[in-house]
Order: sequence, then structure tokens, then C-alpha cells
Amino acid sequence: MPAVKGLEGVVAADTKMSYIDGEKGVLEYVGIPIGQLAEHSTFEETVFLLWNGRLPKKDELASFGVEIRKRYELPAGMEQRLLALPRDAKPMHMIRTMVSALSMHDQNPDANDPASLRDKALNILARVPTLLAYFHRYRSGMPLVRPDGKLGIAENFLYMLNGEMPKPTMAKAMDVCLVLHADHGLNNSTFTARVMMSTQSDMYSAITAAIGSLKGPLHGGANEGVMVMLNEIPSVEAAEKHVLDKLAKKDKIMGFGHRIYKSYDPRATHLQVLAKDLAAETGNTGLFDKSKRIEEVMATAVAAKGIYPNVDFYSATTYHCIGLPLDMFTPVFVIARAGGWAGHVIEQMSDNRLFRPDVDYKGPHEVKYTPMSAR
Ligand code: CMC
Repeated sequence: MPAVKGLEGVVAADTKMSYIDGEKGVLEYVGIPIGQLAEHSTFEETVFLLWNGRLPKKDELASFGVEIRKRYELPAGMEQRLLALPRDAKPMHMIRTMVSALSMHDQNPDANDPASLRDKALNILARVPTLLAYFHRYRSGMPLVRPDGKLGIAENFLYMLNGEMPKPTMAKAMDVCLVLHADHGLNNSTFTARVMMSTQSDMYSAITAAIGSLKGPLHGGANEGVMVMLNEIPSVEAAEKHVLDKLAKKDKIMGFGHRIYKSYDPRATHLQVLAKDLAAETGNTGLFDKSKRIEEVMATAVAAKGIYPNVDFYSATTYHCIGLPLDMFTPVFVIARAGGWAGHVIEQMSDNRLFRPDVDYKGPHEVKYTPMSAR
């Protein structure tokens, strides 16, 4: 059987978490359209939904929040480990390594029963933001800001990162971004996590592997690529030539295109509105206008191929307006997707079978071994 390049169209797992209709531009988490969640939910509630298959009651959400918040602080020893890292390490490399290191502070890292998997999932969900914020403060020569257990994940992250309480609009925008990025079918990093877990490895290994996958510029790394492009384009007027020159060289325009969506990515719809509002609030309308111009040029140049902005395109402007450093854009994706990855790991273990596809061998056969002296 010939290989299916990129496994396009191959159904490799069942899920009850998210549903995507790429033709109609639909994304639902457990049946709820993403727009409703962006408008009404919070990241913590969304993670509860993904892990439990239903929205929480008031007391359930409160105790879920307590479970997360009591884990914000790092286990003893992790902070010293973090403060020994090279200050110029890239945050995605740091977070991949430190999530892996978290397993060594778990008394029973290989326990894969449902309760233990949830426990480890909570550890990772709660501590990724702390690791990122601590590392950013450390590399910038600033004192660490301890987590505030009264705050939700998004607000607490911005508080620890900047050392001051974020404005409510910024905390809300951050939270909406986390909701929009939390889960997305069998994307590359989620697939990576499920493949890893199918060997009955462990939650930390699965999430570590997923972070390595997300880092790539064709996946989560694209949001940083978008910002680099926006910085390279000096003005709205210069956007058209920049994009057309790149397309002529067959370069990909970061933040556009998707394996599944052949219409507008519904996450981008919300992020566009968010980016516009935040750009107006923070004096970054030039950045938003450049993004709009790029979208217009792309619509004319490659519309026939069904290439539209994806989740990463307007999230770049949004994160910039929130005040995140450029190299924190993809790590913020890790905060959000940790919820989805962990849910998929739990789902994989509930009905596991080892992933072990086949390969189409294209090399020679029956070749006689040539001794070294005769080569
Ligand atoms: N800019 C220009 N052309 C594009 C782009 C783009 N961003 N994306 C796809 N195309 C063209 C591509 O050149 C090809 O044209 P042709 O058939 O003439 O050779 C056609 O569209 C199909 O592209 P493909 O790369 O074979 O499609 P794929 O399904 O393998 O890749 C993708 C999907 C997301 C990797 C790709 O669209 C891409 O590289 N986009 C830029 C990177 C990006 O924004 N990634 C984030 C994806 S969404 C969030 C996430 O998953 O993290």
C-alpha cells in the first residue's frame, strides 16, 4: 500500500473532545461552538469541559480551580534547576526540558491509572505558566514574582510575568486566547502525545514530546513567524510587495493555510476582532492594518487554493498588544494546548492500542555485503 504523505485524511483515533468541519469552518469542543466558549467560558472551565465531556456545575468549577491553583508553585528543587539554565536559552527549549524534569519531582511518574493521569495533567497545566514566567524574569535579571492563588491561569501568568496586575481587558484577552487554542483534533502535537502514550509511557513524556512538535514553524511556531514578518514589513503600503515576492519564491506565508480548514479558521475570526480592539487600545493600529492588508493580498493571490488566515495569524498581533515578548508567543500556545494534550493522553489510555504504522520500503534487496577493503 502506498504511503499517505503527511497522513492526510487518515483517521488515526477517536475523540469526544473537539470536532472540526474544515469545509464549513466549524470548531466545537464537546459539541459547543468555539465562538460561544470564547464569549462565555474561561480557560479553566474549558479544560474541565474537555477532560470531563460536560460543563462543570458551580461548585465543581470552584474545586477544579482550587486543584489547579494549589499547584501553581514549583516543587522543591525545580526553581534551583530553572535558575541554573543558560539565560539565553530559548523559552520553547526551556519549557520542553522543564516539563520533562517535572516527572522527577513526582513520586510515581509512571502511574497511568485515570486518577494519576489527571493528577499529572493538573501538575503540568498549573506549572507551565509558572515555569515560563519565572524563566522570563530570571533571564531579564528581574526578581521572581510568586503565583497568586486567587487568580485564574491567564491573569496569574501575566501577573507573574510582568510583576503587576494586568488590566482586566488584557487578562480577559489572554484567557480568550487560551480557550481558542486549547484543543484542535488530531493536530501534529496532539498526535505526537497520543503516539507516545500508546507505548504506556507516561504523561510527562507525552507532553514533553508534544511541546517539541508544537515548536516547529509549520505548527505552533508559526505565531512567532507571523510577528517576524510583520516586523519586517515597514508599512501597510509595503505589505503587498513583501507577500507577492515571497509567494513568487514559493515561500510560505506564516499564519496562512491549514491541513483541515479550507475556509476561514473560526479561531481566526475571533482573534481578528480581539487583535483589532487591543491594537486600538494599545496604539498598535498600524500592526493590525498591516495584517489586514496581508490578508487582502493573500485572498487575491491564493484564494483558489483555499488558503485563509489560521489561528496563528491574528494571535501574533493579539499577543504583541498584550505585551508578551516575541519568543513567548509559542510558549503561550503550550499553556493552552497542555489542556488538550492531557485530555487526549487520558482518552488514549482509556482505549489504548500501540500506534505502529507500516512503511513502504523503497530501497534495494539482496545486496551482497562489501568488505571494507573492497569499498
Ligand atoms: N503560504 C503560501 N502558500 C501556501 C501556504 C502558505 N502559508 N500554505 C499552503 N500553501 C500552498 C502550498 O504552497 C501548496 O501549493 P501547491 O499545491 O501549489 O504546491 C498548497 O498550498 C498546499 O500546501 P501544503 O503545504 O501541501 O499543505 P499542508 O496541508 O501540508 O500544510 C500547513 C498545512 C499549515 C503546514 C501550511 O499551510 C503551512 O505551511 N502554513 C504556514 C505555516 C503555518 O501558518 N502553520 C500554522 C498552522 S495552524 C496552527 C497550528 O497547527 O499550529
